[in-house]
Amino acid sequence: MDAASWDERYRGSELVWKAEPNRFVAEELAGLKPSGRAVDLAAGEGRNAVWLAEQGWEVDAVDFSAVALEKAGRLAVDRGVRLHTVHADLTLWTPAEATYDLVLIAYLHLPWPEMAQLLPRAAAAVRSGGTLLLVGHDAANPEHGYGGPQDPRVLYTAEQVADLWRPYVDILRAETASRPVTDAEGNSHTALDALVHAVRR
Ligand SMILES: C[S@@+](CC[C@H](N)C(=O)[O-])C[C@H]1O[C@@H](n2cnc3c(N)ncnc32)[C@H](O)[C@@H]1O
Repeated sequence: MDAASWDERYRGSELVWKAEPNRFVAEELAGLKPSGRAVDLAAGEGRNAVWLAEQGWEVDAVDFSAVALEKAGRLAVDRGVRLHTVHADLTLWTPAEATYDLVLIAYLHLPWPEMAQLLPRAAAAVRSGGTLLLVGHDAANPEHGYGGPQDPRVLYTAEQVADLWRPYVDILRAETASRPVTDAEGNSHTALDALVHAVRR
């Protein structure tokens, strides 16, 4: 989907995603002492970025949907935290190296060649000792999980991501993680996510 399509999707409803952080983001980062700058890549409406700001991080929220970033900014104001929104296409985004103490990527699904170019740039943007966390719909999700994009060209496994990050980081966790989901009718499902948690060397 291009930026205009995402803008349209975000314009259509009050909040497409929930205002609470993704469960893996909250679980994986809860024990991490907020210390400095964080960047949320493809921040959307800001549920994770705002939660990070509430924990005490100084947060940049990057997305190419202006509508999403406006909603993220409003969510931050409602919650009484500061958020620095950055309107940028991540396929072109090149941060200065060793700028951030935390890089978060949650549910960003670009065609794999574009993702494979972005991931090393994201790793290089983290300072030594800083944290990288990626959560996304796993490549096995269409067949064995629930929801999310069904096009295999934009899906990946934790191992694919970890392989690209290994030259830069120590991998703490790289696995397929199950996420309980309740649909609009109240039925329970299990979604499969790719989860990679790493520390920059
Ligand atoms: C599924 S949403 C996830 C939003 C957020 N990370 C979350 O977990 O709630 C995917 C986001 O990726 C953004 N996105 C997709 N391609 C992008 C690109 N090339 N550059 C910047 N943002 C992009 C979309 O605008 C959308 O907000």
